Amino acid sequence: MSIPTGPAGPLRFPDNFGWGAATSAYQIEGAAKEDGRGESVWDTFSRVPGRTRNGDTGDVAADHYHRYAEDLDLMRDLGLRSYRFSISWPRIQPDGTGAPNQRGLDFYRRLIDGLHDRGISPMATLFHWDLPQALQDAEGWESRDTAYRFADYADAVFRALGDRVPAWLTINEPKTVVQNGYLIGHHAPGRQDPDAAYLVAHHLQLAHGLAVDALRATGSDSRIGPALNLHPCYPAEDSPQAAAAARLYDGYENRLYLDSLLKGSYPADVLADLGPRSRMVQGIRDGDLAIISAPIDLLAVQYYTPIYVTADGGTEHRWATSEAEWQQIYPEGMYDILTRVTRDYGPIPLTITENGLPTPDTMGPDGTVDDAGRIAFLRDHLAAAHRAMAAGVPLESFHVWSLLDNFEWAEGYDQRWGLVYVDYPSQRRVLKKSATWYRSVIADAASERPPPGQPGPDGSASVSR
Ligand code: FCB
Repeated sequence: MSIPTGPAGPLRFPDNFGWGAATSAYQIEGAAKEDGRGESVWDTFSRVPGRTRNGDTGDVAADHYHRYAEDLDLMRDLGLRSYRFSISWPRIQPDGTGAPNQRGLDFYRRLIDGLHDRGISPMATLFHWDLPQALQDAEGWESRDTAYRFADYADAVFRALGDRVPAWLTINEPKTVVQNGYLIGHHAPGRQDPDAAYLVAHHLQLAHGLAVDALRATGSDSRIGPALNLHPCYPAEDSPQAAAAARLYDGYENRLYLDSLLKGSYPADVLADLGPRSRMVQGIRDGDLAIISAPIDLLAVQYYTPIYVTADGGTEHRWATSEAEWQQIYPEGMYDILTRVTRDYGPIPLTITENGLPTPDTMGPDGTVDDAGRIAFLRDHLAAAHRAMAAGVPLESFHVWSLLDNFEWAEGYDQRWGLVYVDYPSQRRVLKKSATWYRSVIADAASERPPPGQPGPDGSASVSR
């Protein structure tokens, strides 16, 4: 019964499907000055007046650093099988270099052990935007050296925690750092410099590849891959001009990252558009693309919205939006992007590491939070993911963004993306209706699993809607 609307019959997900939820360090941890943590670019940025809504910062956030045990219990109660979180670089290397800070490592060791104790598989992201400020002071991602510093940090984390983490993700959404951090400037470090932006893109890709090499060098058999937010780009109208504009837009949104990782080349149309004098083009050295395209074990896809591109290269909204004005609710885009990745890049194992929306959640007088919009959104996106799997996409797991309400970057705490409501003044956690719905989806998938040794007709578990 678990995906409970629509005329269609049961949706069967594989027995071992990784039902999950996602978070990131700066957005939930708080404890900004504890146990030797250094400053990150988001500490700096969020303190600049006018940069975040209401001047919000991640100083306290959802206080997860102190409440992680309670949050682990919540995850167990929801029945999660996978938890995707990030490690804060400035907790491990307060200045971005040098010997790791043991107290920072210890926190993640406790978290990871707590996941295993509850039967939840850890999926750890190494970089979810909280660059140590000391590295930003040394030119941040504009400097090629930062990619090498990232590999050193990754190596320290792999050596300390690698035995307990079966899946690593390198860089979360390099595109968002490029676009929001360096083009639009509404994320840290708040720049508006197109020429720097694409050099940053190259260095983020290089950092990813160097981290993959670093993991392999430890002899680990854990899996590793990047986390990309992919946006299907459609022409907004039926004209050759709109088709061409959408194609180039797709280059900047998707192929810049996918092609370099999976084909070992940057897309020619994007390079031509940037021009030979761009800092990015000048910054690509012999051998870089071989590093960037080192074989990966899985590709993490984050899907939120499609983009409709007009003939003049602008964009249009076609579908209902959410509390996030950039989002259009279009579940079919999930199907399109997943099938496209498999078609164009081959049958690489995929995980969805983020999908969700912010809804105007308030706690009712009876203490419940009725987020029907989130249930409908997740139901429709899961159905689209399921159809992609039926069409041959090797999708292993699905992580709702987000487990908890949290610090949504420039939007501060106004947008609520969680399955779990956080009452910030008291830090009390309240399961929203979507959380209990998701719990029943997971539980039904588990209960309909055939007993051990007796596989179902197609070896899969059944979930219906
Ligand atoms: C993604 C980010 C994540 C969160 C969601 C809403 O781009 O990776 O941290 O902000 O959007």
